[in-house]
Amino acid sequence: MSDQPNTNIITLTRHVLADQFELGPVASGDLTLLLTAIQTTSKFIATNVRKARLINLIGLAGETNIQGEEQKKLDVLSNDIMINSLRASGKTAVLVSEELDEAVFIDEKHRGKYCVVFDPLDGSSNIDAGVNIGTIFGIYHIRPDSKGTLQDVLRPGSEMVAAGYTMYGSSANLVLTTGKGVNGYTLDAALGEFILTHPNIRVPPRGKIYSFNEGNSMYFHEPVTKYLNSLKYPSNGKLPYSARYIGSMVADVHRTLLYGGIFGYPDDKKSKNGKLRLLYEAFPMAFLTEQAGGIATTGTKRILDIVPTDIHQRCSVFLGSKDDVADLQKFYQQEA
Ligand code: AHG
Ligand code: MN
Ligand code: MN
Ligand code: MN
Repeated sequence: MSDQPNTNIITLTRHVLADQFELGPVASGDLTLLLTAIQTTSKFIATNVRKARLINLIGLAGETNIQGEEQKKLDVLSNDIMINSLRASGKTAVLVSEELDEAVFIDEKHRGKYCVVFDPLDGSSNIDAGVNIGTIFGIYHIRPDSKGTLQDVLRPGSEMVAAGYTMYGSSANLVLTTGKGVNGYTLDAALGEFILTHPNIRVPPRGKIYSFNEGNSMYFHEPVTKYLNSLKYPSNGKLPYSARYIGSMVADVHRTLLYGGIFGYPDDKKSKNGKLRLLYEAFPMAFLTEQAGGIATTGTKRILDIVPTDIHQRCSVFLGSKDDVADLQKFYQQEA
């Protein structure tokens, strides 16, 4: 019978619904519906990414975002897709996007109980070359009695109720945590459904890969330089690590979750606070990493404990296998 087609596939919606059934009548199903809206945005963005070259979606949009980055057409389109869909879901109250200077407060008619922070298109510099890119999102439940204010999203990442990303590569892969481990789903384009293909992702305790933009080496602080040297010139007859750096956080983190090792984008002498954004890049990826059994740190502090003061603030990021990140942390401790 093993060569029979599987008639009992687990879709993402079915998987999330199973959690809802477990909670019984207390669960409203709102998170399930919100996640359905997010899945739809990922399918829509994936379709546009695939067609980008054919429908003139390559290149610059002509505007600059608040971080001073030139927006690509796909950055703007993906942002619009997400704002429209999340608002229409009726499940959100506050939205924060990399591409919008200010937070979006949802009108009363459409207002729900969740806040979504997101990077609509991660890895913009890779779009035109056809290299993997993605979407990152984090979800907070609104504070009790709040109608949706900035305070609902200026909260530590440890208060997120769900986080994930979709990577647009040879297939579209959605990786999600709702605080009970990490699961990966692959889009079956014919069905239009994300199917559970990577249940219970665990990051190996140690890997063999490091993933940093070493072009910034001249700006790196000493603990990072010393750590990277320890990987490249190991003692005790150990083998050196392999370097892999794609330049799309989604793709670099995806590989790190599956293969292990360490991904880093440190603060340095030039970028005082690092490059990656806390709310919609560092927090969701830190939440996923911890849920997969890894560590996510600034070097000296757990990322998920940071209390944001600005929606677009940046932070230093190291994440991955627990033994690898622990080695890095030792170099910071030596410095202190
Ligand atoms: P975005 O495309 O959303 O602005 O994010 C870019 C980020 C992230 O994807 C990646 O890890 C990092 O920038 C790459 O930066 P460098 O080009 O400086 O290596
Ligand atoms: Mn950007
Ligand atoms: Mn990004
Ligand atoms: Mn982006």
